[in-house]
Amino acid sequence: MQLQLERITVKYGNAVAVEDISLRVEMGSAVCLVGANGSGKSTILRAISGLVPLAGGQIGFDGERIDRLESHEIVGRGVVHVPEGRRLFPHLPVINNLRLGATLRNDRDGIGRDLDQVFRYFPKLWERRNQKAGTLSGGEQQMVAIGRGLMAAPRLLILDEPSLGLAPAIVAGLIPVIRDINRKGVSVLLAEQNMSLALGVADRGYALQIGKVVLKAGIAEFRESDLVRKAYLGG
Ligand SMILES: Nc1ncnc2c1ncn2[C@@H]1O[C@H](COP(=O)(O)OP(=O)(O)OP(=O)(O)O)[C@@H](O)[C@H]1O
Ligand SMILES: [Mg+2]
Repeated sequence: MQLQLERITVKYGNAVAVEDISLRVEMGSAVCLVGANGSGKSTILRAISGLVPLAGGQIGFDGERIDRLESHEIVGRGVVHVPEGRRLFPHLPVINNLRLGATLRNDRDGIGRDLDQVFRYFPKLWERRNQKAGTLSGGEQQMVAIGRGLMAAPRLLILDEPSLGLAPAIVAGLIPVIRDINRKGVSVLLAEQNMSLALGVADRGYALQIGKVVLKAGIAEFRESDLVRKAYLGG
């Protein structure tokens, strides 16, 4: 087991955001986390990345407990988080935003290879490499955010709602890229409300309701479940 959340609880002040959540990502797998607004998807991802503290439970990565590490130490273990809403530096060129993902690395050759790979995945970004990130379309900004994540040499890539605000055709274009990243050996944990993206990349799924796991299953069973069909696939 590569990532293992054991009965984690996270609170904001006195408000419990997620309670008693257990979740696993096997080495090399792709897992989706679906749930309505406010169900706790981002909170779980932030807890893994050390951006919010646990009120209970523990988190292991590669057999090591990571829930008391600093977020930069967690990145250093290969757990890389592409946040909801992209969080780019809008006044910096695309290329600088991408290179910022590699801040903790010093393997120049590897960084160069990964940058080439990002531009192979997203040729538009090569055309726009000297443009300020804030001038790009939403879809291109999401490409930059994913590219920046890849520049950190992830072993587990955490994606928080990459489809947010994007047209269906743009979302569809992300599916083969995320699948290829996963096929090359990077585990993926994807929080999504867009079921075509979630079902298009994941081999296992978890569904959340109000901070609790209400379903976990392999992706075929997940897709066919009453809960997913009623809540997300229109019956
Ligand atoms: N910084 C915060 N301070 C206080 N409460 C928060 C904070 N962030 C999230 N919450 C609350 O925690 C709960 C879970 O929110 P979270 O953002 O994790 O959900 P989500 O599933 O990612 O939702 P969305 O689909 O809207 O991104 C919600 O009740 C939310 O209001
Ligand atoms: Mg969220």
